Amino acid sequence: MSGGRVLVIDDDLSLRQFLKNMLRRAGYEIETAAGGEEGLAILAASSVDVVVTDLTMEGMDGMAVLKSVRQRWPATEVVMITAHATAENAVEAMKQGAHDYVVKPFNVDQLKVILQKALEKKAMREENLTLREALKDRFGYGSMVGRSEAMQRVYDLMDRVKDTPVTVLITGESGTGKELVARAMHYEGARQSKPFRSINCGAIPENLIESELFGYKKGAFTGAVRDSLGLFASAQGGTVFLDEVGEMPLSTQVKVLRAIQERKVKPIGGFEEVPVDVRIVAATNRDLQAEVRAGRFREDLYYRLKVITVELPPLRARLSDLRPLTDHFLTMYAEQFAKPGVVLDDSTLVELAAWSWPGNVRELENVIQRGVALCRGTVILPDCLPPEIQAAADVGGGFPTEVGGDGLDLERTLERYERQLLESALASAGGIKTEAARLLGISFRSLRYRLQKIGLEDEGPRPN
Ligand SMILES: Nc1ncnc2c1ncn2[C@@H]1O[C@H](COP(=O)(O)OP(=O)(O)OP(=O)(O)O)[C@@H](O)[C@H]1O
Ligand SMILES: [Mg+2]
Repeated sequence: MSGGRVLVIDDDLSLRQFLKNMLRRAGYEIETAAGGEEGLAILAASSVDVVVTDLTMEGMDGMAVLKSVRQRWPATEVVMITAHATAENAVEAMKQGAHDYVVKPFNVDQLKVILQKALEKKAMREENLTLREALKDRFGYGSMVGRSEAMQRVYDLMDRVKDTPVTVLITGESGTGKELVARAMHYEGARQSKPFRSINCGAIPENLIESELFGYKKGAFTGAVRDSLGLFASAQGGTVFLDEVGEMPLSTQVKVLRAIQERKVKPIGGFEEVPVDVRIVAATNRDLQAEVRAGRFREDLYYRLKVITVELPPLRARLSDLRPLTDHFLTMYAEQFAKPGVVLDDSTLVELAAWSWPGNVRELENVIQRGVALCRGTVILPDCLPPEIQAAADVGGGFPTEVGGDGLDLERTLERYERQLLESALASAGGIKTEAARLLGISFRSLRYRLQKIGLEDEGPRPN
């Protein structure tokens, strides 16, 4: 059983060896580094609970290490070793956020007590964070906005799995927020203090993807001038996010399957397998089941990935999120473009609600960003929307629900409305008129009459 992961940074080789042996025997997992830079590289590549660092070192000294750790890995504790016990540098280290310090020559038992306390402090801090999370409301999740029923179900599922190590598959159309869900589960979950590492399987050339995932040994191939950890090993204790997993080459899929099953990876050119403790989250906008049927995705991997599936509904299926999302992006871009107080005209919102959002939340974000950039004054009018949304509103959506002082043409408005509903029913019915009539709750004769009236049908043969 490991008592925690400790990184010892000291330029004195014999001291490093001594601490390594002593602390390993005491149940800690130990990494060592001969200097500050090397230490930070280890921190960047793997997660560490406590750093024990010498204060005076050539190059990057202990104080600089402490500052970096506080900034980049706030969950990691730092213990300082100082040779000349001047009160100032010990106090300065504590002020900068060190957990404690020991003075050389020190006794190992004293260091063990300090390490134990540091680990307890870290655990307590993590527990507090979790408690605070439990009190959070459901207007959103992490950085996610939206309170529709569909999203509440998503949040609920995320809540139940975020602290477990189970593999999660996130599905949904492009721009529905799959990556955001993966990040939220990591940063709201038990692994938040460990690394989140992601790879876009569709964006990396086939011949590089395996060295990215599993790492390589120095000399494994031309250009491998030093060892590389790879995604799995560098996410140790944290999350590996396989984005666009449907694009992963079949040859790589076999190896990823093995890594998931055995919880071990073998770097290219290496002989030893490295154990990895990572939670796998994968995302795709493809229908993976169809990919399996088409022979492009391994069935066994598919089942390994979809232990839990989070399905993100398209934006058009949760239009009640439109308003909160719009407000969220308005605030964001108003600040970015220094246009405080920008609002949406009601008629603009009506047009947004009538649009089908094929690009989902990402599309909405772009539309709002564009609107904020283009609008004159502080009100975004419909003419600041992209032409396709305006055109769609002219044909179909954007029907007035109130008659203002300018009045409206009732006949024409109703006709437009009727035309849209008829067209939409025909589309849903795949062009079969009897079915369209059934969808609209009218007789076939009535449908024909209406289609003729608006010029959508001439006298034709009746279907049976
Ligand atoms: N619920 C949400 N609240 C706030 N912002 C969101 C939400 N969902 C998506 N976004 C924003 O929309 C954009 C797209 O989200 P994201 O990249 O997670 O989508 P995706 O499903 O991974 O898309 P793709 O399939 O194209 O990769 C991002 O800028 C993200 O911040
Ligand atoms: Mg994505």
